[in-house]
Amino acid sequence: MKPTSSASVPTAPTPPQVPLCDIQAQYRALKEEIDSAVLRVLGSGQAILGPEVAAFEQETARFCGAQFGIGCGSGTDALVLALRALDIGPGDEVIVPPFTFFASASAVARVGAKPVFVDIDPVTFNLDPNQIEAKITANTRAIMPVHLFGQCCDMNAIWEIAQDRQLYVVEDAAQSFGSEYKGKRCGALGSVTCLSFYPTKNLGAIGDAGLVTTNDPSIDKKLRALRVHGSEVKYYHKYIGYNMRLDAIHAAVLRVKLPHVATWLTARVTAAKRYDSLIESTNLHGFMRRPVAQPDRRHTYNQYVVRVPANHRDSLVKHLKDSGVGVEVYYPLSLHQQECFRYLGYRTGDFPTSEQAASEVVALPIFPEITESQQQRVVEVCAGYLRQTIRRAA
Ligand SMILES: Cc1ncc(COP(=O)(O)O)c(C=O)c1O
Repeated sequence: MKPTSSASVPTAPTPPQVPLCDIQAQYRALKEEIDSAVLRVLGSGQAILGPEVAAFEQETARFCGAQFGIGCGSGTDALVLALRALDIGPGDEVIVPPFTFFASASAVARVGAKPVFVDIDPVTFNLDPNQIEAKITANTRAIMPVHLFGQCCDMNAIWEIAQDRQLYVVEDAAQSFGSEYKGKRCGALGSVTCLSFYPTKNLGAIGDAGLVTTNDPSIDKKLRALRVHGSEVKYYHKYIGYNMRLDAIHAAVLRVKLPHVATWLTARVTAAKRYDSLIESTNLHGFMRRPVAQPDRRHTYNQYVVRVPANHRDSLVKHLKDSGVGVEVYYPLSLHQQECFRYLGYRTGDFPTSEQAASEVVALPIFPEITESQQQRVVEVCAGYLRQTIRRAA
C-alpha cells in the first residue's frame, strides 16, 4: 500500500524538556526504603509526632551541629514558632531583607511584630550588614538573616551588631539546609534556626515539613509547647500556641533521605560549576551574570540564579519556557512593594538593590540529578535567545 503523504513527512525530534527541579528523582532512587518507611508509619498507628519524629529531630540537629531540633509543619511554622519562643510580638521590630520569600516577613507580621526592611548586598542577594545599624530602634528585638538560594549571610558581621545591641539572630535557612559559613553549618549559626523541608528544598519531604534548631534548652522547651497549642501538660495551656506539629510520615521519609544529603549537596555544587563554565564557554557571561559564591561559605545552590538586563528578563523567561526549559523568577516583587505590606509605609525606590534584583533574576534548572546534557540544553537555549536578539537588533 502506498504510504499517505502525511505519514512520509519526517518529524523533527522534540528537544529534551528540562524541569526546573525533578522531585521524583530521589523517590525513584530510594523507592524501596521510602516505601518501607511509609509502611512502617502506617503500621505504627502513630501519625503525628512520636518516636519517628523524635529520631528525625535528633539526627537533623546533629547534622546541623545544634543541640536541639523541634519538628513542625513547615518552614513558615518554624519562623512563627521561633519568633514566639523568643517572646517577639506587638510593639517589637525585626530586621528582615525585602528580597526573600514572603514567609520571612509575614511570620514577623503574624506574631504581631513589625517587619523592618534592610536592603540586600548586590553580590550575594543577602541582607547587607552595613545597612542594619541605621534601622535599629529601641523596639528592635531581632535580626533575621535569610540565607537566600543556598548561600549563608555574613554571619560574623550580623552577630557583631546583634551582640552590641543585645538582639536575637533568627536564621531563615529554609533554602540552605547543609550550607556552611566558615566551616559551620546553618542550624548552628543563629539564636534559633528555621528550616523548611518543602519538596524542592535541599532536603525535601513528601509534603510540607519544617524544623527549628537551637542550643538553648529553655527555647527548646517553649518551642515544643508552642507547637502543641502551648501545652507542656496535655490540656493545660501555658501559652496560646498552635497546631504546628510534624507528621510522622514526613519524618520517616526525611530520615531515609538525610544520609544522602551530603552527596546531593556535592552534586548541586558540581552542577553549579558546570553552569559557570558552560555560560563562559558559550560567551554568555557578558549578558548573564552568574551567582557569586563567597570564599568563606559553602553555597549549596538550592537555586542557581543568574541576572540578565531587566529589559530582557521576561522575554528570556518566555523563550526558555517555550523551549521546554523550566525556569522561575525568585522573586518578581520586593516585599516592601507587596500590597499586604502597604501599611508599613514603604515606597518604590526605598530598597534599590532589592528592586533591581527583582527585575533581573532568573533561576535556571538545578537539582542533584541534573545531567550535563540537560545543562548544555539550558545554556544552548539561552544562547539561542541572545543570537535571536542580536539578529533582530541588527
Ligand atoms: C526563604 C524562605 N523562608 C521561608 C520559607 C517557608 O517555608 P515553607 O514553604 O516550608 O513554609 C521558604 C519556602 O520557600 C523560603 O524560601
